[in-house]
Amino acid sequence: MEAVKVGVLGLGTVGSGVANILQRNADEIARRAGRGIRISTACVQDLKKQRACDVTDVTLTTDPNQVVSNTDVEIVLELMGGTDEARELVFKALDHGKHVVTANKALIAFHGNEIFLRAQEKGVTVAFEAAVAGGIPIIKALREGLAANSIRWLAGIINGTGNFILTEMCDKGRDFNEALKEAQQLGYAEADPTFDIQGTDAAHKLAILASVAFGVPLQFEKVYTEGITEISRMDAAYASELGYRIKHLGIAKRTPNGLELRVHPALIPHRRLIANVDGVMNAVIVNADALGPSLYYGAGAGAEPTGSAVVADLIDVVRALTTDPENRVPHLAFQPDALSDIPVLPMDDVLTAYYLRIHVVDRPGVLADVTRIFAVHAISIEAIIQKELQAGATSVPIVILTHQVNEQNMKRAIAELEDLSTVTSRITRIRLETLS
Ligand code: NAP
Ligand code: HSE
Repeated sequence: MEAVKVGVLGLGTVGSGVANILQRNADEIARRAGRGIRISTACVQDLKKQRACDVTDVTLTTDPNQVVSNTDVEIVLELMGGTDEARELVFKALDHGKHVVTANKALIAFHGNEIFLRAQEKGVTVAFEAAVAGGIPIIKALREGLAANSIRWLAGIINGTGNFILTEMCDKGRDFNEALKEAQQLGYAEADPTFDIQGTDAAHKLAILASVAFGVPLQFEKVYTEGITEISRMDAAYASELGYRIKHLGIAKRTPNGLELRVHPALIPHRRLIANVDGVMNAVIVNADALGPSLYYGAGAGAEPTGSAVVADLIDVVRALTTDPENRVPHLAFQPDALSDIPVLPMDDVLTAYYLRIHVVDRPGVLADVTRIFAVHAISIEAIIQKELQAGATSVPIVILTHQVNEQNMKRAIAELEDLSTVTSRITRIRLETLS
């Protein structure tokens, strides 16, 4: 049987990774898919650019219509990134009856609901495994492997660039910007790296994970988002003394009052496996009612790890080319007419424990003021340490771990603490998750 012809939008880091895997593993891929898979056309911006893959048998073009409207092409890979042009081209491809495989989390997080609807109308598939956690097959695990379960919560390190920077900075003492530059050189970072360091990329991914886990529409705009830019080596060192590591987490949790959807740095007990996931590696813990906890670990970014997920999707699509659309796995795991409207909780209502670093004047009574404010806001202290006064310093850091309290109480307490004349600078607050 003739090989399935694939058209590619974008032959950069991920596109080249995909091309290399398809070429290197061609025989095994054909044995799995039932047909060979060949890239016939690829659209790029710059035809003169050196490619990290063999393009001898590929028609290169700068006109995306030669991919999305090409009658020879059965499957379009969207690997160019961005949301506006990518959305337009994906719609064109769907309207031409092509299946689409994408690694673009921003596209799915923003436009997934309408894209899946159009795909359903056209009887084609949009696959997006590579959009979350690089090469880890977490979408497949949630959508198929865990289909028997009600998911209670999931939590993950889902941005490779951010985890790489944190590891380099906190464990190896490297400068933040230097580590970011290296992540960019290694092909991990987004075209706009502020997406990685400000948490936006992780929020895109969390919105997708939450949809697939809980059967709710994509709601990126409701994800509470903080990045890694405020994390300091000092906090990493204090956290370590207390038996914790600081990681950037995406958390989606079902509670009696609604869903928590949040992305932010968190202290995690050192003994948890996920606390020891370093560098570009990602990991997601899923807590499900029948299976209990399970952990998925692997490279979260990079050419071939991401290419691995794209090619797996391609194989799935090829296997399903002759099946009725109704018999395919639904895009968001649940049947499209069975999505639920569970509300997303405002961040003020979220319950977590906290790590606080408060710089205070070193004199009697200061700690009593701090604990009085905590008592007023029903905040219970789990541990407290006062660090030594550094030579030449006028204030001492106090590090406090609290029990769980709702976010609003903590915000009010911090505002009152910062008003005290004895508190000398802004308080550092990092949430603490035991993940138990
Ligand atoms: P990249 O290296 O910058 O590659 C983008 C490719 O798209 C390039 O080949 C570029 O052409 C082409 N392109 C961009 N805009 C275009 C346009 N308007 N018309 C035609 N071609 C265009 O990006 P990447 O790292 O491979 O990422 C691609 C997608 O995968 C993004 O959505 C990203 O979020 C996602 N992703 C990336 C990773 C990763 O580890 N890098 C992991 C998971 C998901 P030229 O080469 O000629 O400039
Ligand atoms: N920039 C993303 C990351 C790529 O570093 O995780 C993988 O989605």
